[in-house]
Amino acid sequence: MTRIESDGAYANLVLPELLSESDLVDRDRRFVTQVVYGTTRMKRACDHLVDRFLLGDADPKVRAALRIGAYQLVFLETPPHAAVAATVGALSGPGRSVVNAVLRRVSDAPVEFPDDATRLSYPDWIVQRLAHDLGADDAEDAMVAMNRAAVTSTRDDGYIQDPASQLVIEAVAAEPGHVVVDTCAAPGGKATGLAARGALVVAGDRRASRTRLVMANASRTGHPVQTVVADGRQPPVRPGSADRVLVDAPCSGFGSLRRRPDARWRIDDEAPGRLGRLQVELVVSGLDLLRPGGILTYSVCTFGDDEGAAVIAEAIDRAAEADLLVDRLEPPSEPWQARNGMAVLVPADTDGMMLAQLRRRF
Ligand SMILES: C[S@@+](CC[C@H](N)C(=O)[O-])C[C@H]1O[C@@H](n2cnc3c(N)ncnc32)[C@H](O)[C@@H]1O
Repeated sequence: MTRIESDGAYANLVLPELLSESDLVDRDRRFVTQVVYGTTRMKRACDHLVDRFLLGDADPKVRAALRIGAYQLVFLETPPHAAVAATVGALSGPGRSVVNAVLRRVSDAPVEFPDDATRLSYPDWIVQRLAHDLGADDAEDAMVAMNRAAVTSTRDDGYIQDPASQLVIEAVAAEPGHVVVDTCAAPGGKATGLAARGALVVAGDRRASRTRLVMANASRTGHPVQTVVADGRQPPVRPGSADRVLVDAPCSGFGSLRRRPDARWRIDDEAPGRLGRLQVELVVSGLDLLRPGGILTYSVCTFGDDEGAAVIAEAIDRAAEADLLVDRLEPPSEPWQARNGMAVLVPADTDGMMLAQLRRRF
């Protein structure tokens, strides 16, 4: 926990690495994962629960132990003697008595939070932003859903993928023999899913290390794709040659916060604007690859206008300047919701997602 908190390590990278070095049995690994990811998500709520009884500052190890203990007591409803004993037992030094005393008081006191942001454990600005983007009720449902562990589903070819991504693959509507260019393809979930439908897929990613993941996934699933290390703003594909283009763009990721437990504490509020500008470039370059009648699908696992409606509006303007005429297609129907010209999936059992489609006229 202190590596995640103080050293900036990514929870979903550091924990699997530590577990791979340990000799814990599967059940204990699952429990450790649940506690580490859960405590990371619920950090703000846990801090509130313990700060009521803490006099002065706690050093990072004591703070981490207090959060873990509070998480088990309040969110996992672990019996107090077990939660307190296990947490104190894992600690050495003078912090033990503080942790013991504070956790005992947490277990006796009523659970109360001053506001929704603390209760649901998100930074204030994310709570406000989601309420603005989704409306208060959907935002609350989304935040509750993203505090739960991600549910995954396994495709017929063994690839583990969120159902929201599978809905994006369906929306692309690739047919056997179609040339599909996936310009932001790594790790290849959607590219291999499109290849599984018989499409001839060109899968590019800007980073070589990530492009290798696409190759590995293509060979593991048995769905071959043509991989290329390339910036999607200058894709090495003949203009006018693609039946379908997928721009599954890098984004601020508000819709997949449950998958990355520490992401809510890291996203900076300038990310949507910065990434929105990159997404416009990616969509404009993608449109150029389409044959007349071809369809571009733009998807991001986030919400908001900077990434989303504004990106599509600007891309349409820019395409017209380049003498490319494009039509915006109707958002796909259920389970997508139409909002502001975009199709939106509010996180529930799936990740959250936004999608729009453009057809090149001639
Ligand atoms: C949301 S992920 C794509 C997920 C992928 N489509 C899948 O389904 O497995 C976005 C990807 O875009 C890549 N990326 C970022 N900037 C890029 C750029 N300018 N050109 C191409 N790829 C880029 C990132 O390396 C990342 O792998």
